Amino acid sequence: MLENYSDLIKDALPKKFGVKGKYLALVKTFGCQQNFADSERICGILKESGFDFTEDENKADLIVFNTCAIRKHAEDRFFAFLGNTKKLKRSNKNLVVVVCGCMPQKEEIFNKIKTTFPFVDLVLGTDYFRVFSKFLYKSFKSKNMLYFNEIKNDGICADDSLPVKRTDKIKASVPIMYGCNNFCSYCIVPYVRGRERSRDLFKILDEVKGLVGKGYKEILLLGQNVNSYGKDLKNNINFSELLKRIDEIEGDFWVRFMTSNPKDVTKELIDTMANSKHITPYMHLPVQSGNNRVLKIMNRKYTKEQYEEIVEYAKSKIPGLCLSTDIIVGFPGETEKEFLDTVDLVKKVKFFLIYSFIFSKREGTLAAKMDDPVPYKEKSRRLRYLLEVQKNITDNLFASFVGSTQRVLVEEGSERPEVFLARTPGNILTKVYSKEKEILGKFLKIKILSSTRTYLEGEEVQK
Ligand code: SAH
Ligand code: SF4
Ligand code: F3S
Repeated sequence: MLENYSDLIKDALPKKFGVKGKYLALVKTFGCQQNFADSERICGILKESGFDFTEDENKADLIVFNTCAIRKHAEDRFFAFLGNTKKLKRSNKNLVVVVCGCMPQKEEIFNKIKTTFPFVDLVLGTDYFRVFSKFLYKSFKSKNMLYFNEIKNDGICADDSLPVKRTDKIKASVPIMYGCNNFCSYCIVPYVRGRERSRDLFKILDEVKGLVGKGYKEILLLGQNVNSYGKDLKNNINFSELLKRIDEIEGDFWVRFMTSNPKDVTKELIDTMANSKHITPYMHLPVQSGNNRVLKIMNRKYTKEQYEEIVEYAKSKIPGLCLSTDIIVGFPGETEKEFLDTVDLVKKVKFFLIYSFIFSKREGTLAAKMDDPVPYKEKSRRLRYLLEVQKNITDNLFASFVGSTQRVLVEEGSERPEVFLARTPGNILTKVYSKEKEILGKFLKIKILSSTRTYLEGEEVQK
Protein backbone atom coordinates (compact mmCIF):
# COMPACT_ATOMS: atom_id res chain seq x y z
CA MET A 1 0.00 0.00 0.00
CA LEU A 2 1.22 3.47 -0.94
CA GLU A 3 0.21 5.11 2.33
CA ASN A 4 2.36 2.64 4.24
CA TYR A 5 5.47 3.49 2.30
CA SER A 6 4.82 7.20 2.66
CA ASP A 7 4.47 6.67 6.42
CA LEU A 8 7.63 4.58 6.50
CA ILE A 9 9.51 7.34 4.68
CA LYS A 10 8.14 9.95 7.08
CA ASP A 11 9.39 7.91 10.02
CA ALA A 12 12.77 7.38 8.35
CA LEU A 13 13.42 11.05 7.49
CA PRO A 14 15.15 12.11 10.77
CA LYS A 15 17.49 9.13 10.64
CA LYS A 16 18.27 9.66 6.96
CA PHE A 17 18.75 13.42 6.93
CA GLY A 18 19.16 14.33 10.60
CA VAL A 19 16.52 15.88 12.87
CA LYS A 20 15.31 19.19 11.45
CA GLY A 21 12.15 21.22 10.92
CA LYS A 22 11.76 20.60 7.20
CA TYR A 23 12.90 18.02 4.70
CA LEU A 24 13.24 19.59 1.30
CA ALA A 25 12.82 18.03 -2.12
CA LEU A 26 13.65 19.54 -5.49
CA VAL A 27 11.94 17.93 -8.48
CA LYS A 28 13.47 19.00 -11.78
CA THR A 29 11.38 18.06 -14.80
CA PHE A 30 12.53 17.86 -18.43
CA GLY A 31 10.42 17.09 -21.49
CA CYS A 32 6.76 17.10 -22.36
CA GLN A 33 3.49 17.72 -20.54
CA GLN A 34 3.27 14.02 -19.70
CA ASN A 35 6.45 14.25 -17.71
CA PHE A 36 5.21 17.37 -15.95
CA ALA A 37 1.98 15.54 -15.07
CA ASP A 38 3.99 12.58 -13.72
CA SER A 39 6.08 15.02 -11.67
CA GLU A 40 2.93 16.49 -10.12
CA ARG A 41 2.14 12.99 -8.91
CA ILE A 42 5.70 12.39 -7.68
CA CYS A 43 5.45 15.67 -5.74
CA GLY A 44 2.06 14.57 -4.37
CA ILE A 45 3.64 11.37 -3.07
CA LEU A 46 6.64 13.24 -1.65
CA LYS A 47 4.38 15.69 0.13
CA GLU A 48 2.49 12.79 1.67
CA SER A 49 5.84 11.32 2.70
CA GLY A 50 6.77 14.40 4.73
CA PHE A 51 8.71 16.50 2.23
CA ASP A 52 8.40 20.21 1.56
CA PHE A 53 9.74 21.70 -1.65
CA THR A 54 12.54 24.01 -2.67
CA GLU A 55 13.92 25.44 -5.90
CA ASP A 56 17.35 25.85 -4.29
CA GLU A 57 19.56 22.83 -4.97
CA ASN A 58 21.88 23.81 -2.13
CA LYS A 59 19.06 23.42 0.38
CA ALA A 60 17.64 20.16 -0.99
CA ASP A 61 17.79 16.85 0.89
CA LEU A 62 16.38 15.03 -2.11
CA ILE A 63 16.79 15.84 -5.81
CA VAL A 64 14.62 14.06 -8.36
CA PHE A 65 15.36 14.41 -12.07
CA ASN A 66 12.40 13.46 -14.25
CA THR A 67 14.09 13.05 -17.61
CA CYS A 68 13.27 13.22 -21.33
CA ALA A 69 14.86 11.19 -24.14
CA ILE A 70 13.15 12.73 -27.15
CA ARG A 71 16.25 14.42 -28.63
CA LYS A 72 19.95 14.31 -27.85
CA HIS A 73 19.79 17.90 -26.64
CA ALA A 74 17.34 16.94 -23.88
CA GLU A 75 19.68 14.18 -22.71
CA ASP A 76 22.73 16.47 -22.79
CA ARG A 77 20.93 19.07 -20.68
CA PHE A 78 20.07 16.48 -18.06
CA PHE A 79 23.65 15.15 -17.89
CA ALA A 80 24.91 18.71 -17.41
CA PHE A 81 22.56 19.11 -14.42
CA LEU A 82 23.52 15.72 -13.06
CA GLY A 83 27.23 16.58 -13.35
CA ASN A 84 26.58 19.65 -11.26
CA THR A 85 24.90 17.53 -8.61
CA LYS A 86 28.21 15.76 -7.95
CA LYS A 87 29.49 18.90 -6.16
CA LEU A 88 26.34 19.09 -4.04
CA LYS A 89 26.72 15.48 -3.04
CA ARG A 90 30.31 16.17 -1.97
CA SER A 91 29.25 18.99 0.34
CA ASN A 92 26.13 17.20 1.59
CA LYS A 93 26.76 13.50 1.99
CA ASN A 94 23.14 12.87 3.02
CA LEU A 95 21.77 14.20 -0.28
CA VAL A 96 19.62 11.60 -2.09
CA VAL A 97 19.59 11.75 -5.90
CA VAL A 98 16.92 10.02 -7.98
CA VAL A 99 16.81 9.82 -11.77
CA CYS A 100 13.50 8.78 -13.27
CA GLY A 101 11.39 9.22 -16.42
CA CYS A 102 12.14 8.40 -20.02
CA MET A 103 15.95 8.29 -20.17
CA PRO A 104 16.64 5.46 -17.74
CA GLN A 105 14.20 3.33 -19.65
CA LYS A 106 17.20 2.72 -21.91
CA GLU A 107 19.75 0.40 -20.29
CA GLU A 108 22.70 2.18 -21.91
CA ILE A 109 21.69 5.34 -20.04
CA PHE A 110 21.61 3.43 -16.80
CA ASN A 111 25.09 2.04 -17.59
CA LYS A 112 26.36 5.57 -18.22
CA ILE A 113 24.87 6.79 -14.93
CA LYS A 114 26.38 3.83 -13.08
CA THR A 115 29.88 4.36 -14.44
CA THR A 116 30.02 8.17 -14.68
CA PHE A 117 27.69 9.28 -11.88
CA PRO A 118 27.99 6.52 -9.25
CA PHE A 119 26.66 8.88 -6.54
CA VAL A 120 23.09 8.52 -7.85
CA ASP A 121 20.97 6.58 -5.36
CA LEU A 122 17.97 5.43 -7.35
CA VAL A 123 17.16 5.07 -11.06
CA LEU A 124 13.56 4.43 -12.08
CA GLY A 125 11.83 3.94 -15.45
CA THR A 126 8.68 5.67 -16.66
CA ASP A 127 6.09 3.54 -14.89
CA TYR A 128 7.60 3.86 -11.44
CA PHE A 129 6.22 7.28 -10.55
CA ARG A 130 3.11 5.37 -9.48
CA VAL A 131 5.09 3.48 -6.82
CA PHE A 132 7.61 6.18 -6.08
CA SER A 133 7.40 5.96 -2.29
CA LYS A 134 7.99 2.21 -2.25
CA PHE A 135 11.19 2.48 -4.28
CA LEU A 136 12.43 5.61 -2.53
CA TYR A 137 12.05 3.76 0.75
CA LYS A 138 13.94 0.78 -0.67
CA SER A 139 16.76 3.07 -1.70
CA PHE A 140 16.86 4.66 1.79
CA LYS A 141 17.60 1.17 3.09
CA SER A 142 20.21 0.30 0.45
CA LYS A 143 23.86 1.26 0.21
CA ASN A 144 23.95 0.62 -3.56
CA MET A 145 22.42 2.37 -6.55
CA LEU A 146 19.09 0.68 -7.32
CA TYR A 147 17.60 0.39 -10.84
CA PHE A 148 14.11 -0.61 -11.98
CA ASN A 149 12.75 -0.09 -15.48
CA GLU A 150 10.12 -2.71 -16.20
CA ILE A 151 6.98 -1.51 -18.02
CA LYS A 152 4.23 -4.01 -17.42
CA ASN A 153 1.98 -2.98 -20.33
CA ASP A 154 -0.78 -4.72 -18.42
CA GLY A 155 -3.45 -2.14 -19.14
CA ILE A 156 -3.32 -0.88 -15.58
CA CYS A 157 -3.20 2.85 -15.01
CA ALA A 158 -2.92 2.62 -11.28
CA ASP A 159 -2.50 6.35 -10.86
CA ASP A 160 -6.11 7.10 -10.06
CA SER A 161 -5.59 7.14 -6.34
CA LEU A 162 -2.29 8.99 -6.39
CA PRO A 163 -2.04 12.29 -4.58
CA VAL A 164 -1.34 15.19 -6.97
CA LYS A 165 0.49 18.36 -6.05
CA ARG A 166 -0.75 20.70 -8.74
CA THR A 167 1.56 23.50 -9.82
CA ASP A 168 -1.23 25.76 -11.05
CA LYS A 169 -4.54 26.89 -9.57
CA ILE A 170 -6.17 27.78 -12.88
CA LYS A 171 -5.07 25.11 -15.34
CA ALA A 172 -4.95 21.39 -14.59
CA SER A 173 -3.70 18.55 -16.71
CA VAL A 174 -5.46 15.21 -16.69
CA PRO A 175 -3.65 12.25 -18.26
CA ILE A 176 -6.18 10.16 -20.16
CA MET A 177 -3.79 7.58 -21.56
CA TYR A 178 -0.20 6.46 -21.36
CA GLY A 179 2.21 5.09 -23.94
CA CYS A 180 2.14 5.01 -27.71
CA ASN A 181 1.63 2.29 -30.34
CA ASN A 182 2.59 4.29 -33.40
CA PHE A 183 6.32 3.73 -33.76
CA CYS A 184 7.02 6.73 -35.95
CA SER A 185 10.44 5.77 -37.28
CA TYR A 186 12.33 8.64 -35.61
CA CYS A 187 10.68 8.49 -32.21
CA ILE A 188 11.86 6.96 -28.94
CA VAL A 189 8.56 7.41 -27.07
CA PRO A 190 7.04 3.96 -27.78
CA TYR A 191 10.25 2.36 -26.50
CA VAL A 192 10.40 4.37 -23.31
CA ARG A 193 6.69 4.71 -22.51
CA GLY A 194 5.40 1.29 -23.57
CA ARG A 195 2.08 0.45 -25.23
CA GLU A 196 -1.08 2.52 -25.11
CA ARG A 197 -3.07 2.23 -21.91
CA SER A 198 -6.26 4.27 -21.56
CA ARG A 199 -7.55 5.38 -18.20
CA ASP A 200 -10.98 4.35 -17.05
CA LEU A 201 -13.71 6.68 -18.34
CA PHE A 202 -15.35 7.22 -14.96
CA LYS A 203 -12.07 7.91 -13.20
CA ILE A 204 -11.35 10.63 -15.78
CA LEU A 205 -14.84 12.10 -15.47
CA ASP A 206 -14.59 12.12 -11.68
CA GLU A 207 -11.21 13.84 -11.82
CA VAL A 208 -12.45 16.52 -14.22
CA LYS A 209 -15.62 17.09 -12.15
CA GLY A 210 -13.50 17.40 -9.03
CA LEU A 211 -11.17 19.92 -10.67
CA VAL A 212 -14.02 22.02 -12.05
CA GLY A 213 -15.64 21.90 -8.59
CA LYS A 214 -12.42 23.24 -7.09
CA GLY A 215 -12.53 26.16 -9.50
CA TYR A 216 -10.07 25.09 -12.20
CA LYS A 217 -10.84 26.91 -15.43
CA GLU A 218 -8.84 24.96 -17.98
CA ILE A 219 -8.54 21.20 -18.23
CA LEU A 220 -5.81 19.81 -20.45
CA LEU A 221 -6.41 16.19 -21.45
CA LEU A 222 -3.07 14.52 -22.01
CA GLY A 223 -1.74 11.61 -24.00
CA GLN A 224 0.90 10.92 -26.66
CA ASN A 225 -1.95 10.30 -29.07
CA VAL A 226 -5.20 11.33 -27.41
CA ASN A 227 -7.27 10.32 -30.42
CA SER A 228 -6.35 6.69 -29.72
CA TYR A 229 -8.14 6.95 -26.39
CA GLY A 230 -10.28 3.90 -25.66
CA LYS A 231 -8.95 1.62 -28.39
CA ASP A 232 -7.69 -0.72 -25.67
CA LEU A 233 -10.87 -0.52 -23.58
CA LYS A 234 -13.91 -2.74 -23.96
CA ASN A 235 -16.63 -0.13 -23.52
CA ASN A 236 -16.84 1.38 -27.02
CA ILE A 237 -15.86 4.79 -25.73
CA ASN A 238 -13.59 6.58 -28.15
CA PHE A 239 -11.96 9.98 -27.74
CA SER A 240 -14.92 11.87 -29.23
CA GLU A 241 -17.28 10.11 -26.84
CA LEU A 242 -15.00 10.95 -23.92
CA LEU A 243 -15.04 14.61 -24.99
CA LYS A 244 -18.84 14.58 -25.25
CA ARG A 245 -19.13 13.21 -21.69
CA ILE A 246 -16.67 15.79 -20.37
CA ASP A 247 -18.56 18.51 -22.21
CA GLU A 248 -21.71 17.58 -20.25
CA ILE A 249 -20.04 18.56 -16.97
CA GLU A 250 -21.60 21.74 -15.57
CA GLY A 251 -19.48 24.83 -15.02
CA ASP A 252 -17.58 27.61 -16.74
CA PHE A 253 -14.38 25.96 -17.92
CA TRP A 254 -12.34 25.25 -21.03
CA VAL A 255 -11.10 21.91 -22.30
CA ARG A 256 -7.98 21.48 -24.36
CA PHE A 257 -6.20 18.28 -25.37
CA MET A 258 -2.87 17.20 -26.70
CA THR A 259 -1.42 15.59 -28.71
CA SER A 260 -3.59 14.63 -31.65
CA ASN A 261 -2.10 12.41 -34.31
CA PRO A 262 -3.49 13.52 -37.70
CA LYS A 263 -3.99 9.91 -38.78
CA ASP A 264 -6.64 9.52 -36.05
CA VAL A 265 -8.42 12.85 -36.35
CA THR A 266 -11.92 11.95 -37.51
CA LYS A 267 -14.79 14.09 -38.73
CA GLU A 268 -16.63 12.86 -35.63
CA LEU A 269 -13.94 14.47 -33.46
CA ILE A 270 -14.14 17.76 -35.33
CA ASP A 271 -17.94 17.77 -35.22
CA THR A 272 -17.73 17.08 -31.48
CA MET A 273 -15.44 20.07 -31.04
CA ALA A 274 -17.68 22.24 -33.19
CA ASN A 275 -20.81 21.34 -31.17
CA SER A 276 -19.30 21.59 -27.73
CA LYS A 277 -19.65 24.21 -25.00
CA HIS A 278 -16.28 23.76 -23.34
CA ILE A 279 -13.79 22.53 -25.94
CA THR A 280 -11.64 25.35 -27.23
CA PRO A 281 -11.06 26.00 -30.95
CA TYR A 282 -7.45 24.92 -30.69
CA MET A 283 -5.60 21.88 -31.93
CA HIS A 284 -1.95 20.95 -31.75
CA LEU A 285 -1.68 18.78 -34.83
CA PRO A 286 1.93 17.72 -35.51
CA VAL A 287 2.48 17.30 -39.24
CA GLN A 288 6.25 16.56 -39.08
CA SER A 289 6.70 16.94 -42.87
CA GLY A 290 4.80 18.17 -45.90
CA ASN A 291 6.27 15.58 -48.25
CA ASN A 292 4.63 12.21 -48.86
CA ARG A 293 7.83 10.20 -49.32
CA VAL A 294 9.22 11.55 -46.06
CA LEU A 295 5.90 11.03 -44.24
CA LYS A 296 5.93 7.43 -45.43
CA ILE A 297 9.43 6.67 -44.16
CA MET A 298 8.55 8.47 -40.96
CA ASN A 299 5.71 5.91 -40.68
CA ARG A 300 3.16 8.68 -40.04
CA LYS A 301 0.36 6.88 -41.93
CA TYR A 302 -1.17 9.96 -43.58
CA THR A 303 -0.37 11.95 -46.68
CA LYS A 304 0.05 15.68 -47.10
CA GLU A 305 -3.31 15.71 -48.91
CA GLN A 306 -5.08 13.89 -46.08
CA TYR A 307 -3.60 16.33 -43.59
CA GLU A 308 -4.73 19.33 -45.61
CA GLU A 309 -8.19 17.82 -46.05
CA ILE A 310 -8.69 17.34 -42.33
CA VAL A 311 -7.44 20.87 -41.63
CA GLU A 312 -9.81 22.30 -44.23
CA TYR A 313 -12.74 20.39 -42.75
CA ALA A 314 -11.82 21.54 -39.24
CA LYS A 315 -11.49 25.18 -40.31
CA SER A 316 -14.87 25.03 -42.04
CA LYS A 317 -16.61 23.62 -38.95
CA ILE A 318 -14.86 25.34 -36.06
CA PRO A 319 -15.00 29.15 -36.16
CA GLY A 320 -11.75 30.81 -35.10
CA LEU A 321 -9.82 27.53 -35.10
CA CYS A 322 -6.13 28.01 -34.24
CA LEU A 323 -3.58 25.37 -35.12
CA SER A 324 -0.07 24.66 -33.97
CA THR A 325 2.24 21.91 -35.15
CA ASP A 326 5.56 20.07 -34.80
CA ILE A 327 7.97 19.77 -37.71
CA ILE A 328 11.14 17.74 -38.09
CA VAL A 329 13.68 19.29 -40.42
CA GLY A 330 16.46 17.22 -42.00
CA PHE A 331 14.95 13.77 -41.58
CA PRO A 332 17.46 11.23 -43.01
CA GLY A 333 17.57 11.65 -46.78
CA GLU A 334 15.23 14.69 -46.90
CA THR A 335 16.07 16.58 -50.10
CA GLU A 336 15.84 20.33 -50.57
CA LYS A 337 12.70 19.84 -52.67
CA GLU A 338 11.11 17.68 -50.01
CA PHE A 339 11.92 20.30 -47.40
CA LEU A 340 10.30 22.95 -49.59
CA ASP A 341 7.13 20.82 -49.66
CA THR A 342 7.02 21.28 -45.88
CA VAL A 343 7.46 25.04 -46.32
CA ASP A 344 4.55 25.00 -48.81
CA LEU A 345 2.32 23.20 -46.37
CA VAL A 346 3.22 25.65 -43.62
CA LYS A 347 2.31 28.56 -45.88
CA LYS A 348 -0.98 26.93 -46.81
CA VAL A 349 -2.20 25.85 -43.38
CA LYS A 350 -1.11 29.00 -41.49
CA PHE A 351 -0.27 27.64 -38.05
CA PHE A 352 0.01 30.32 -35.41
CA LEU A 353 2.89 28.45 -33.85
CA ILE A 354 5.30 25.77 -35.03
CA TYR A 355 7.70 23.79 -32.92
CA SER A 356 10.45 22.78 -35.30
CA PHE A 357 13.34 20.46 -34.57
CA ILE A 358 16.37 19.21 -36.44
CA PHE A 359 16.22 15.43 -36.69
CA SER A 360 18.02 13.84 -33.77
CA LYS A 361 19.23 10.27 -34.10
CA ARG A 362 17.76 8.04 -31.41
CA GLU A 363 19.48 4.64 -31.11
CA GLY A 364 17.01 1.79 -31.29
CA THR A 365 14.61 3.54 -33.68
CA LEU A 366 14.32 2.64 -37.38
CA ALA A 367 15.45 6.08 -38.54
CA ALA A 368 18.73 5.69 -36.66
CA LYS A 369 19.70 3.07 -39.25
CA MET A 370 18.82 5.23 -42.27
CA ASP A 371 21.42 6.95 -44.42
CA ASP A 372 21.69 10.57 -43.38
CA PRO A 373 23.88 12.33 -45.95
CA VAL A 374 22.71 15.93 -45.42
CA PRO A 375 25.25 17.87 -43.29
CA TYR A 376 24.09 19.43 -40.02
CA LYS A 377 24.94 22.89 -41.28
CA GLU A 378 22.51 22.47 -44.16
CA LYS A 379 19.81 21.21 -41.79
CA SER A 380 20.32 24.31 -39.61
CA ARG A 381 19.93 26.49 -42.68
CA ARG A 382 16.63 24.77 -43.52
CA LEU A 383 15.42 25.27 -39.97
CA ARG A 384 16.28 28.98 -40.03
CA TYR A 385 14.54 29.38 -43.37
CA LEU A 386 11.40 27.67 -42.07
CA LEU A 387 11.35 29.88 -38.97
CA GLU A 388 11.74 32.97 -41.16
CA VAL A 389 8.73 31.94 -43.28
CA GLN A 390 6.74 31.26 -40.13
CA LYS A 391 7.52 34.72 -38.70
CA ASN A 392 5.56 36.40 -41.47
CA ILE A 393 2.67 33.99 -41.11
CA THR A 394 2.45 34.64 -37.35
CA ASP A 395 2.71 38.41 -37.90
CA ASN A 396 -0.20 38.41 -40.34
CA LEU A 397 -2.29 36.00 -38.36
CA PHE A 398 -1.85 37.92 -35.10
CA ALA A 399 -2.51 41.24 -36.86
CA SER A 400 -5.82 39.83 -38.12
CA PHE A 401 -7.03 39.65 -34.50
CA VAL A 402 -6.58 43.39 -33.94
CA GLY A 403 -9.98 45.04 -33.50
CA SER A 404 -11.72 41.79 -32.55
CA THR A 405 -13.30 41.02 -29.20
CA GLN A 406 -12.11 37.87 -27.48
CA ARG A 407 -13.10 36.02 -24.36
CA VAL A 408 -9.78 35.26 -22.68
CA LEU A 409 -8.74 33.35 -19.59
CA VAL A 410 -6.41 35.35 -17.35
CA GLU A 411 -3.69 32.94 -16.28
CA GLU A 412 -0.80 34.90 -14.78
CA GLY A 413 0.32 38.25 -13.49
CA SER A 414 3.45 40.02 -14.67
CA GLU A 415 6.13 42.33 -13.28
CA ARG A 416 3.74 45.21 -13.84
CA PRO A 417 0.66 45.16 -11.60
CA GLU A 418 -1.71 46.36 -14.34
CA VAL A 419 -0.51 43.81 -16.92
CA PHE A 420 -1.77 40.22 -16.94
CA LEU A 421 -1.08 37.26 -19.20
CA ALA A 422 -4.08 35.55 -20.69
CA ARG A 423 -4.92 33.11 -23.50
CA THR A 424 -7.53 33.35 -26.19
CA PRO A 425 -9.74 30.30 -26.83
CA GLY A 426 -7.34 29.50 -29.69
CA ASN A 427 -4.48 29.44 -27.14
CA ILE A 428 -2.77 32.66 -28.25
CA LEU A 429 -0.88 34.50 -25.54
CA THR A 430 -2.46 37.88 -24.81
CA LYS A 431 -1.31 40.74 -22.62
CA VAL A 432 -4.29 42.22 -20.85
CA TYR A 433 -4.32 45.69 -19.31
CA SER A 434 -6.65 45.97 -16.36
CA LYS A 435 -6.99 48.26 -13.36
CA GLU A 436 -8.75 45.56 -11.38
CA LYS A 437 -6.51 43.41 -9.22
CA GLU A 438 -8.62 40.29 -8.77
CA ILE A 439 -8.75 39.03 -12.33
CA LEU A 440 -6.49 35.97 -12.14
CA GLY A 441 -8.43 32.85 -13.15
CA LYS A 442 -11.27 34.91 -14.62
CA PHE A 443 -12.71 34.85 -18.10
CA LEU A 444 -12.73 38.40 -19.48
CA LYS A 445 -14.10 39.99 -22.57
CA ILE A 446 -11.33 42.03 -24.10
CA LYS A 447 -10.78 44.09 -27.18
CA ILE A 448 -7.52 43.35 -29.05
CA LEU A 449 -5.70 46.64 -29.61
CA SER A 450 -2.40 45.54 -31.09
CA SER A 451 -0.18 42.56 -31.77
CA THR A 452 3.48 41.63 -31.75
CA ARG A 453 5.10 38.48 -33.11
CA THR A 454 4.62 36.58 -29.87
CA TYR A 455 1.47 37.94 -28.30
CA LEU A 456 -1.67 40.00 -28.69
CA GLU A 457 -2.45 43.01 -26.51
CA GLY A 458 -5.86 44.08 -25.35
CA GLU A 459 -7.94 45.73 -22.69
CA GLU A 460 -11.08 44.78 -20.89
CA VAL A 461 -14.30 45.80 -22.59
CA GLN A 462 -16.22 47.93 -20.10
CA LYS A 463 -19.19 46.05 -18.68
N1 SAH B 1 3.00 12.17 -29.72
C1 SAH B 1 3.27 13.38 -30.38
C2 SAH B 1 4.70 13.79 -30.34
C3 SAH B 1 5.51 13.65 -29.10
S1 SAH B 1 7.19 14.03 -29.30
C4 SAH B 1 2.87 13.22 -31.85
O1 SAH B 1 2.79 12.16 -32.37
O2 SAH B 1 2.73 14.21 -32.49
C5 SAH B 1 7.13 15.75 -29.69
C6 SAH B 1 7.78 16.11 -30.97
O3 SAH B 1 9.17 15.86 -30.91
C7 SAH B 1 7.33 15.30 -32.17
O4 SAH B 1 6.14 15.76 -32.69
C8 SAH B 1 8.47 15.50 -33.14
O5 SAH B 1 8.28 16.64 -33.95
C9 SAH B 1 9.65 15.72 -32.22
N2 SAH B 1 10.57 14.57 -32.27
C10 SAH B 1 10.33 13.30 -31.87
N3 SAH B 1 11.40 12.53 -32.11
C11 SAH B 1 12.34 13.32 -32.68
C12 SAH B 1 13.65 13.11 -33.17
N4 SAH B 1 14.21 11.91 -33.13
N5 SAH B 1 14.31 14.17 -33.70
C13 SAH B 1 13.75 15.39 -33.75
N6 SAH B 1 12.52 15.65 -33.32
C14 SAH B 1 11.81 14.62 -32.78
FE1 SF4 C 1 6.33 9.43 -31.15
FE2 SF4 C 1 4.79 9.04 -33.22
FE3 SF4 C 1 4.05 8.11 -30.84
FE4 SF4 C 1 4.05 10.72 -31.31
S1 SF4 C 1 2.76 9.20 -32.32
S2 SF4 C 1 4.85 9.68 -29.53
S3 SF4 C 1 5.79 10.97 -32.67
S4 SF4 C 1 5.78 7.41 -32.05
FE1 F3S D 1 10.37 13.31 -23.59
FE2 F3S D 1 9.36 11.18 -22.54
FE3 F3S D 1 7.81 13.20 -23.15
S1 F3S D 1 10.91 11.22 -24.10
S2 F3S D 1 8.83 14.14 -24.87
S3 F3S D 1 9.38 13.21 -21.63
S4 F3S D 1 7.29 11.05 -23.28
